[in-house]
Amino acid sequence: MGRLPAMLARGTLRGTGGRAPVRGFGGSPRSRSAMPSWVIDRYGRNEVLRFTREMAFPAIQFPNEVVVQVHAASLNPIDLSMRSGYGATALNMKRDPLKIKSTETEFPLTLGRDVSGVVMECGLSVSYFKPGDEVSFKPKCLSHTEAASLPYVGLTAWSAINKVGGLNQSNCSGKRVLILGASGGVGTFAVQLVKAWGAHVTAVCSHDASALMKKLGADDVIDYKSGNLEEQLKPLPLFDFILDNVGGSTEKWALNLLKKWSGATYVTLVTPFLINMDKLGVADGMLQTGVTIGSKTVKHLLKGVHYRWAFFMPSGPSLDEIAELVDSGKIQPVIDQVFPFSEVPKAFLKLEEGHARGKTVINVVDKK
Ligand SMILES: NC(=O)c1ccc[n+]([C@@H]2O[C@H](COP(=O)([O-])OP(=O)(O)OC[C@H]3O[C@@H](n4cnc5c(N)ncnc54)[C@H](OP(=O)(O)O)[C@@H]3O)[C@@H](O)[C@H]2O)c1
Repeated sequence: MGRLPAMLARGTLRGTGGRAPVRGFGGSPRSRSAMPSWVIDRYGRNEVLRFTREMAFPAIQFPNEVVVQVHAASLNPIDLSMRSGYGATALNMKRDPLKIKSTETEFPLTLGRDVSGVVMECGLSVSYFKPGDEVSFKPKCLSHTEAASLPYVGLTAWSAINKVGGLNQSNCSGKRVLILGASGGVGTFAVQLVKAWGAHVTAVCSHDASALMKKLGADDVIDYKSGNLEEQLKPLPLFDFILDNVGGSTEKWALNLLKKWSGATYVTLVTPFLINMDKLGVADGMLQTGVTIGSKTVKHLLKGVHYRWAFFMPSGPSLDEIAELVDSGKIQPVIDQVFPFSEVPKAFLKLEEGHARGKTVINVVDKK
């Protein structure tokens, strides 16, 4: 897959270097020089977001890249982190490993990663996509607004549950799965995924999200605000799999809720990876991260359970599997609120307030 589009720009990608030959269709960006975007010129709180019509239109620089016109985009906690500079060391390295040298700056920086749109141009070696395709590939039954709510949380849940946790359609039936932080973007997707694969799902959320959890298929719903959560979960039968979207103190007791010596696994999405890189630099940060995960894994293995960290993993084939689950009605997008492109700062504030019930989405192309 080619370079992914920057989310909060009405056109697409960053970068204006030399162009490679492309295949395009009507409305090609060749004829344009600038596009409206939300950018930041420094890290900070919401006031650093700046609207501009002057961001250079993206150009395909390598033959395996595509340019996508973004129709809708969704926000994730990582976008708040990026705005504030948290994780900048790792994110800059990932964004452009060759270009971010010590003398260069990432600013003005267009935030975002999660989109639905239409392919405008393809580099010459791109064969999987063609101009005009709704990517990537968009579930046919969804609008761009709905589709934009799925890729990042869907692939993160897929990474945690399938790639790291080892659960899949053929081995999940009847397994007892506990999801901590079930009402947010990742949680609402995860509940539906393991339910579609036949698991018994216990969802932990605030009381006001209980009805949503039941609607998404959760068998048991526990309100973490109605008393000590550990004490509420202890009387329940032990679990085969725990997905932790909350982190912090949960890690101290949650692994005691797993079946011992049966391959049961705890996977957390809340890790110190980015903060280690910020504090210690790339090499020492990675070393510290390796030591921490290694020692925790061994400690829990000796107690008969598996302890794992998971991260968002981009994957075209997994997106295609997700699209099939959506088209077959087994997974539905859960959208908390939709904002117009002119109100991107309000969308960031909404996400920052917490208490998400699914996703915050931005309509980039106005629906007339
Ligand atoms: N490692 C990675 O690559 C990766 C990728 C994606 C996400 N993440 C992380 O995974 C976490 C979840 O992401 P998200 O996109 O789902 O975030 P989100 O949409 O903001 O949802 C977070 C949810 O957690 C709930 N919550 C907060 N405290 C809780 C608690 N003690 N017990 C149960 N629920 C609680 C919140 O609801 P209430 O407060 O109203 O109860 C909210 O619904 C975030 O920390 C994010 O940074 C990591």
